[in-house]
Parts: sequence; structure tokens; C-alpha cells
Amino acid sequence: MAGHKLRQKIEYRIENFDLRVLSGIQPSGRLHIGNYFGAMRQHLQLQADHDCFYFIADFHALTSNPEPGDIARYTLDVAMDYIALGLDTDKTVFWRQSDVPEVTELTWLLSCVTPMGLLQRCVSFKDKVAQGLAPNHGLFAYPVLQAADILIYKSDLVPVGADQKQHIEVTRDIAGRFNNDYGVVFTIPEAHIIESVAVVPGTDGRKMSKSYDNTIEIFEPEESLRKKIMRIVTDSTPVAEPKDPDRCNVFALLRLVASPQELADWENRYRTGGTGYSEAKKRLAELVIDYFKPFREKRADLEHNSAYVRDVLAEGARRARAVAGQTLTAVRNAMGLGAYYGR
Ligand code: ADP
Ligand code: TRP
Repeated sequence: MAGHKLRQKIEYRIENFDLRVLSGIQPSGRLHIGNYFGAMRQHLQLQADHDCFYFIADFHALTSNPEPGDIARYTLDVAMDYIALGLDTDKTVFWRQSDVPEVTELTWLLSCVTPMGLLQRCVSFKDKVAQGLAPNHGLFAYPVLQAADILIYKSDLVPVGADQKQHIEVTRDIAGRFNNDYGVVFTIPEAHIIESVAVVPGTDGRKMSKSYDNTIEIFEPEESLRKKIMRIVTDSTPVAEPKDPDRCNVFALLRLVASPQELADWENRYRTGGTGYSEAKKRLAELVIDYFKPFREKRADLEHNSAYVRDVLAEGARRARAVAGQTLTAVRNAMGLGAYYGR
């Protein structure tokens, strides 16, 4: 490789190494394999060569009015799941959103440069209202809080599922307006849309989601995991007939956990007929159990050591606040809330 090309490549790697990656996940239920393959796995992989900031978005979860006990319990559950699955607690900054109050102050400051029209166009608000959620102001302002999360930590890259793309666009828009009106304070972030995995179907065939009661939890007890998998909705093609793997919920999940050779074998069995869905389901249950087995012991240990998990989150909040405080001071100064000018 020519010298300059090699140098460019090395510089590119070094630059990327310093990229700040940030993402958040709501503690609105126990995490499921759709969350894992659609988001968490990539979050964990990015730790190897990026400066990662991950948080549990409990302020956002409040917009759907959960029980106070639930939000606390799910926050710890999410933390335990991430740590058990390989979150590097020394390197990655990992905290609970509400432990950094600076983010709510920034939300207000950003609200004052956010046009109403920008929020009125957000589809996730409209979707949630259409699903019957009684809209509160927090739900409407949700994208401004998300923008504050992203901007306060000077994030470069935000890895999220395609459903969050619009919120990152809103963030970029707000940051651009602010920089334009008050001078450059914010880094304009890029979305890193996780599309390597198609939407993971739930047991009823709809998108697997904490709000649909159709999930397979990552750390579901083995017996209930098997039962749920046996209940996955399939069509009524008889055992002897050929089946279409591309239209089967069981096969969609096999894609995530089977080796390429085994998957090819299942595809062949589907297409030639003679194999029933229940056989595929039994094998799927074993593969899902095996996939997460290496992490189960750690997850069980953490369950008995919540003091350690709380410590990790407290230390994460301390590191996060150090960055948030700097950004907030710069924003306050830019907006005229710093020194008393002219006196
Ligand atoms: P849920 O719908 O279960 O409440 P969230 O909306 O909190 O999940 O999503 C958290 C992350 O997990 C997001 O990045 C989202 O894109 C991803 N995710 C959620 N459900 C799925 C799914 N069924 N397939 C793929 N990714 C998913
Ligand atoms: N809205 C995101 C979701 O539902 C969670 C979230 C909150 C988030 N703040 C964020 C994601 C900042 C990325 C960056 O999945």
C-alpha cells in the first residue's frame, strides 16, 4: 500500500477511535431479544474502539406514566442486563438519565429555540397518540429531551434503530439553529442507523416490543422461554408440504441464532417439506438458550449484588455530569445567562 494511503488509513482509524458514541434505552419493561439484536449487540460491539456513553432513559419512560415501582425495578434490570452482556464498566460511561439534572435544564434552553412545527411533525408522537396513549406535554417535548441528551455529551455518533432516525434529525436541526443564533457550541451528531438486523418479530408476528406482550426476554427462565417459543404464531401449512422460510416468524428468529450451515439446512427442510414448525421451534428454543447461556451466570450474580450495580451507575453519573456541566456552562454563557454583561 502506498505510504500516504496507509497513513490516511491509520489516521482514519485514530480519528474514529476518538468518536463519542451515545445511546439510551428506556426502562419500560424487561429487555427482549429484539432489543438485543436490534440495538444492544451493536452498542456493546462499538465499545471496542469508540468512546461510548450509554444511559437508561428513565425521564423518557415517564412520558407513558409507569408505576413508580416499575420504573425503579426496570432501571436496575436494564443495568444488570447490559453489564451481564458485556458492558465494560471501566471504559464505557453508563448511568441513569435522571441522575444528571443538567440535562433537564438544557432541555428548557433548547425548547426556546425549537419551533413548534418541528415537534408537530414527529411521527413517534402521532403514533403513540394513535395507539391510545393520553398525550402529556412530556410526550410532545420528548424529542427536545432526546436532543439535550445527545448534545450535552458532545456526541458524534448515535447508534439507534430506524424508528429513531427522525429524532436524530430533530437534534441536528435544533443544534444547527442554536449554533447559528448564538455561536458554535454544539457538535452536530450523526445517526448510525442499525439496519443489519431486520425488525425482530414477536411471538404474535408483530414487531417484538415491550408494549405488545409478545416478547422473549433475553434472560427469560428456560421453561417459560420454551413455552413462549412453542406458542409463536405460524401458518397452517401441513407438515408434509413445503414452507416459505421468508414468511415464517420461527425462521426469522432462527436467522439470528443459527450458524450459517444450520440455517441453510433449515431453509432446505422448509422448502422441501416434511418438517413441521414444532420441530423448528424446539431447535430454536435450544439455540436461544445456548446463545445467552454464557451470560446467565453473571446476570444471576448481579441479581444478588444490586449494590454493585448501583455503584456502577453512580460512578457513571459522576463522569457524565462532568461533561454535561461543561456544555451547560457554555450554553448558558452563549444565551446571556452567564456573567451580568456591562455591569
Ligand atoms: P420496545 O419497542 O420494546 O419498547 P424500544 O422502543 O425501547 O423497544 O427500543 C429500544 C431499542 O431496541 C431501539 O434501538 C429499537 O430500535 C430496538 N428494537 C426494539 N424492538 C426491536 C425489534 N423488534 N427488532 C429490532 N430492534 C428492536
Ligand atoms: N428515544 C429512544 C428510544 O426510545 C431512547 C433515547 C432517549 C435515546 N434519549 C436518547 C436514544 C438519546 C439515543 C440517544 O429508543
